[in-house]
Amino acid sequence: MSRLPAGPRNALFTTVRYLRDPFGSLLDAARRYGDPFTWPTFLGKMVVTGDPGGIKTLLSADPEIYEALGADLLAPVLGENNLILLSGERHRAMRKLQNPQFHGERLHAYGRLITGITEEHAGRWPPERPFPIQQTMQAISLDVILQAVLGLSEPATRAAFAEAVRSLVAALKPSFMFIRTLRRPMFGLGAWARFQRLRATTLALFGKELAARRARAEPREDILSLMLAGRKEDGSAFDDQELFEQMISLIGAGHETTASALTWALYHVHRDPSVKAALLEELQSLAVPLDPEAVTKLPYLNAVCSEVLRLDPVAPIVGRRLRQGLTLQGYDLHPGVSVGIGIINVHRRADLYPEPELFRPERFLTREYGAFEYLPFGGGSRRCLGAAFALYEMKLVLATVLRLHRLRLVTDVPVRAALRNTTVGPAATIEMARA
Ligand code: HEM
Repeated sequence: MSRLPAGPRNALFTTVRYLRDPFGSLLDAARRYGDPFTWPTFLGKMVVTGDPGGIKTLLSADPEIYEALGADLLAPVLGENNLILLSGERHRAMRKLQNPQFHGERLHAYGRLITGITEEHAGRWPPERPFPIQQTMQAISLDVILQAVLGLSEPATRAAFAEAVRSLVAALKPSFMFIRTLRRPMFGLGAWARFQRLRATTLALFGKELAARRARAEPREDILSLMLAGRKEDGSAFDDQELFEQMISLIGAGHETTASALTWALYHVHRDPSVKAALLEELQSLAVPLDPEAVTKLPYLNAVCSEVLRLDPVAPIVGRRLRQGLTLQGYDLHPGVSVGIGIINVHRRADLYPEPELFRPERFLTREYGAFEYLPFGGGSRRCLGAAFALYEMKLVLATVLRLHRLRLVTDVPVRAALRNTTVGPAATIEMARA
């Protein structure tokens, strides 16, 4: 069949609905039109599947048939060296260079750093005053990533970067990301001009740090230092602009995602007394100070984190654009069409996850899920580079916080998901307080 599968027709309506209710809009489309369905977006038509067989077809295909989605449109905003926008050989080479930093020995070197930063933040939570979890988790994950990626151990420099990154991410608006004509200087007023100004400020800060790093030339182990010493395929060094865009892409991909996942985790754990009791009991078995390696091996904590990322994935859909034709579930798709994995669609299948809308970590204790059934970090050649790091961080932050404080939700009401700056996270501010 060479026609596209059925789906909603209006890109504007679909996008507005997605921004307000990302999970509901994708689940409704599959219910209404079946799987696969065609999803109209500002980046063109995307054929989406949440069927494990369809996902297998997409992820088993030769990576060469795909290119990054929206690279032309988004490169002027996110930077043309941003990993999420690279394709082909450049993409492969960049991943190869950065990958070791997020695995094996290197990963374990971050353990104490993560527990230390968490203790420092959690130690400042006021005894009775409520605090917003997302913001608090974001402060922790930003500190972690600034130290791990940029190696910023000096508190004042880290605080300056944290402020610059926070402002830059907040200034990134879907309006100018997707509508080119809104990228106008407008006499220095407006969202685009503001974003450009903040980008220049962050780049200047980064340039100063690079100059200091080059002058000191001492061996360091953070990702920025590795890239400073690294060489491209043609043997040349990375210039400041390339380094900046790579670092910003890692910081952008890595801090709000983990913070949203941690927020959902604290929310779900504190809404279900039996989950909370089981988790606290498991955590009590650990010696103090926490041994990061022991924390990562806890089965119930692992099940809690897996269930959080199943029920509330921070990326409910991931896409690529076809460079070559592909047959997906009987449809012959032409080059230029995009394909998407409906992560939320597969994660909410009742045949795989009975009572899929309920938070039930136990399901991960009694069954193992395959790479085409459970994929909060996407898959194939673009699978999240920081997946192992993110899970490690989630477990360590949760264990540290829950060992340090007894917490409660200030209001126990259902919270749905909505699009935040770069991820899908809780739509409402969730507040907690020390119990
Ligand atoms: C709970 C936290 C996180 C979740 C759920 C998450 C999820 C994802 C997903 C779904 C993708 C797209 C994968 C695909 O297209 O198949 C992705 C890409 C990516 N993530 Fe994560 N992520 C998280 C944390 C992190 C962290 C901590 C880092 C780095 C420090 C990171 C770095 C990246 C990068 C660089 C990419 C682009 C990979 C590429 O295009 O080759 N992520 N992430």
